[in-house]
Amino acid sequence: MSRLFAFLFGRDEPKLSEASARDAGAIAALHSASFRRGWSEQEVEALLLERNVLAHRALAGSALCGFIMSRRGADEAEILSVAVARAARGRGLARRLLMLHLGRLAGLGVRTVFLEVDAHNAPALGLYRRAGFREVARRPNYYASDTKASADALVLRRDLA
Ligand SMILES: CC(C)(COP(=O)(O)OP(=O)(O)OC[C@H]1O[C@@H](n2cnc3c(N)ncnc32)[C@H](O)[C@@H]1OP(=O)(O)O)[C@@H](O)C(=O)NCCC(=O)NCCS
Repeated sequence: MSRLFAFLFGRDEPKLSEASARDAGAIAALHSASFRRGWSEQEVEALLLERNVLAHRALAGSALCGFIMSRRGADEAEILSVAVARAARGRGLARRLLMLHLGRLAGLGVRTVFLEVDAHNAPALGLYRRAGFREVARRPNYYASDTKASADALVLRRDLA
């Protein structure tokens, strides 16, 4: 935990690396803290064991402070989720994770990356637009629920060179 504090006070940079099924518990915890509908540890583990799923993690010492995950099909991939621990946001960590991940996907032969994002999620839209993603479709009222005003989903696309 002291490494996480060192990072938060600017003396350390989280280390990025590929994630494996052993990270399922920590990724599920961060996912649940970041999204209204969290993933269980079992769901995350099942995803990480899929042959076509790729995930990267950011570690401050042994503490997980970010992750990104995608699933490939032919020469396309979909980003399934990305999240950074609340206290570590706004320091470029999601951008580092995303760029590392896109580079690895390109190395695996992926030519096009898609994702869905809540049209009201300004931090995520900023992240993706700055990384070259462009809107290709809108799904009206996609995130409607009893507890939240309905929001459209945007489908974003980025071609990898
Ligand atoms: C979206 C999220 C991953 C961004 O993580 P982060 O590490 O804070 O992002 P970064 O510091 O790398 O910022 C990268 C870019 O994102 C955008 N951004 C980040 N935070 C932002 C905010 N609060 N408001 C607007 N834009 C923001 C900016 O364009 C930023 O680039 P800039 O600083 O050069 O302008 C983080 O807010 C998060 O985990 N949110 C909850 C989970 C989530 O919504 N995931 C996306 C689902 S599709």
